[in-house]
Amino acid sequence: MGCFPCGSNSSGNAKNKQTKKPDDEIASTSVEKLTSAPDVKKEASKDGGSDRIAAHTFTFRELAAAAKNFRADCLLGEGGFGRVYKGRLESTGQVVAIKQLDRNGLQGNREFLVEVLMLSLLHHSNLVNLIGYCADGDQRLLVYEYMPLGSLEDHLHDLPPDKRQLDWHTRMKIAAGAAKGLEYLHDKANPPVIYRDLKCSNILLGEGFHPKLSDFGLAKLGPVGDKTHVSTRVMGTYGYCAPEYAMTGQLTLKSDVYSFGVVLLEMITGRKAIDNSRAGGEQNLVAWARPLFKDRRKFAQMADPLLQGQYPIRGLYQALAVAAMCVQEQPNMRPLIADVVTALTYLATQKYEPEAQSNQGYRTSSRCSTPRR
Ligand SMILES: Nc1ncnc2c1ncn2[C@@H]1O[C@H](COP(=O)(O)OP(=O)(O)OP(=O)(O)O)[C@@H](O)[C@H]1O
Ligand SMILES: [Mg+2]
Repeated sequence: MGCFPCGSNSSGNAKNKQTKKPDDEIASTSVEKLTSAPDVKKEASKDGGSDRIAAHTFTFRELAAAAKNFRADCLLGEGGFGRVYKGRLESTGQVVAIKQLDRNGLQGNREFLVEVLMLSLLHHSNLVNLIGYCADGDQRLLVYEYMPLGSLEDHLHDLPPDKRQLDWHTRMKIAAGAAKGLEYLHDKANPPVIYRDLKCSNILLGEGFHPKLSDFGLAKLGPVGDKTHVSTRVMGTYGYCAPEYAMTGQLTLKSDVYSFGVVLLEMITGRKAIDNSRAGGEQNLVAWARPLFKDRRKFAQMADPLLQGQYPIRGLYQALAVAAMCVQEQPNMRPLIADVVTALTYLATQKYEPEAQSNQGYRTSSRCSTPRR
């Protein structure tokens, strides 16, 4: 099956699950130089009319003041890049998330530059907004719009007892929105952008669980002309990486579709992409799911037990069918993200109505009601 160490290892810990490597050849290139390059501006204006590089530059002092000197009570989370703090900009009063590059961390200046560049050029309602950045001396910080509901991972895995699980409809809405963000990168951006780091922690949630993709430090401009792939060093996160990319380093838009399939499976099943606390055959989500995809009678067993049977059975079948197509071993058998958007947008409009369902073969509960967490 498909999962293979895409880099080193796996772990439940946010910091360790990264397999990203630094690539600092362009470490000395300044953000200003990159974002003011004529080619970059030209690209920006071609794509959706965004002819401005919107990101604002902040001083370190401004951001330290915004995040109360990066006090522990402002900490929102931590990833491979460094820590993320909640802050309020003194100049405008705007609440923001400030990501501070860990200078001892693995992910380097290159990712910082790519993130600033990509998010300055790409604008869509399902991509997080970059408000600005700071490149004062050796400080590197990114300032994003604050996403009040945190990441999808926070709502799906290891829920504290007081947190409500996501209902089926919300899951489908989030999946459809995330797919739209990816569709913008693949089909609307010119040249196309391969996101390369799709996973639950990079889907951030705004009011009403509106999803936005974040973290573009690994993104790559996709193949142009007759080329079918770009060759690159394998980077990404274990459990989400497409098998052909992990084995050959050949990256295509279909590598993102695979990662999307893993995220969708996590949303349907409530299982993590990699979960070392489970029994051998169940640690890798795709490996566990593949044999079950072959038998529709097993589909109900795959639904997240926390849903307690509260989902439309037909919707479950269709969502699993989409996920199964996305995680196919052969990249050319995977669907285009535009088709995934169409399917999920439809599923997101289907409301779960228990009364109507009992007559229509919808699942209503008991067998699925064992609490798992
Ligand atoms: N704009 C934001 N608004 C609110 N919370 C955020 C924002 N950006 C990040 N966070 C929080 O900070 C956490 C860490 O984010 P970060 O992107 O640094 O790490 P990660 O996604 O877990 O791993 P990786 O480094 O691989 O992306 C997220 O899980 C999320 O809870
Ligand atoms: Mg992230």
